[in-house]
Amino acid sequence: MSAIFEVENLSLHYLSRWGQKIHAVTDVSFSMKKGEILGIAGESGCGKSTLVNGLMGLFIPPLYPTSGDVRVNGESLMNRTPQDIRSNILSRKVSMIPQGAFNALNPTRKVKDIAADVIVAHLQKGGVTRKESYDLLRERFDLFGMDTERILNSFPIQLTAGERQRSVIGISTLLNPQMVIADEPTSALDVSTQKVVIKMIFDLLEKNIFSTMIFITHELPLLRHVADNIGIMYAGEFVEYGTAEQIVFDPRHPYTKALMGAMLSAEPGQREKKPVAIEGAPPSLAKIISGCRFAERCPSARPDCKLRSQAIRMVAGRQVRCEYAD
Ligand SMILES: Nc1ncnc2c1ncn2[C@@H]1O[C@H](COP(=O)(O)OP(=O)(O)OP(=O)(O)O)[C@@H](O)[C@H]1O
Ligand SMILES: [Mg+2]
Repeated sequence: MSAIFEVENLSLHYLSRWGQKIHAVTDVSFSMKKGEILGIAGESGCGKSTLVNGLMGLFIPPLYPTSGDVRVNGESLMNRTPQDIRSNILSRKVSMIPQGAFNALNPTRKVKDIAADVIVAHLQKGGVTRKESYDLLRERFDLFGMDTERILNSFPIQLTAGERQRSVIGISTLLNPQMVIADEPTSALDVSTQKVVIKMIFDLLEKNIFSTMIFITHELPLLRHVADNIGIMYAGEFVEYGTAEQIVFDPRHPYTKALMGAMLSAEPGQREKKPVAIEGAPPSLAKIISGCRFAERCPSARPDCKLRSQAIRMVAGRQVRCEYAD
């Protein structure tokens, strides 16, 4: 089966008011087939949310594409206006569940009106009315066993965080997008609410409302249960990319190993394991980094690691950005 989503050497930067470039994403490549779930993990500030905007072709200053391409069904998303992306790509081809969206719902509108605004805006050409969009919404919320009438007629503040997040997910998948990009959909939720939200995402997949997804999180162990493939990001780069099994149980890049070590794993037999902090901090993305970006913190760094930037190579059947990994 051919890829429905292709990302080729994508690099992105922010331009500060003083003209300084912040290289938030560097040389990211991957492709996805229909039905695939890709997990992307990495610590805070590594460029995950920036990448999400790039993957949507959504460039709002100060974010700019540096180079590379993103294609949906072979169609490039680069060099398009945010208006064009919003009306022709978002919601129908690729839908985004932005980070913190459940906290960003317009507090002055009821959930049903927030949803109708989104739908009507996206379906200008299709001519869907507000009434029709309410009906669609009711049908969808019922399907997920939500307390539909109460939720739709509430203001966001009247709902729990879980209800707000489920509403956001319901609204952004209403038009059965080909694929969904969810940016940390469960962070900032308590554990039991996280489970409800994950269950909703699985229900959506099971009911074929969408079938392809990028799931972003900083909780790597969660991805083992969710993802087919996983990309690990560090300081704007993918440092390792392979199957969930490879990444979680047999990581090869020193950063992936450190990240796994830093996570409290709920795997049987590993409950006793204490998380090990990764010493130091990622490098500033405002400078051009000539050597390996992880070298400063890498327990197995060699003297020349700080001198040469690292290219992706195949190690044990997956992509690793480290010439010494084996
Ligand atoms: N508007 C902006 N202008 C300049 N730099 C920015 C801007 N937004 C983000 N950055 C920088 O880009 C880098 C990547 O940020 P990004 O928000 O993509 O990280 P993240 O991996 O999503 O983090 P988190 O896990 O905390 O959500 C960071 O160094 C951040 O400071
Ligand atoms: Mg983020």
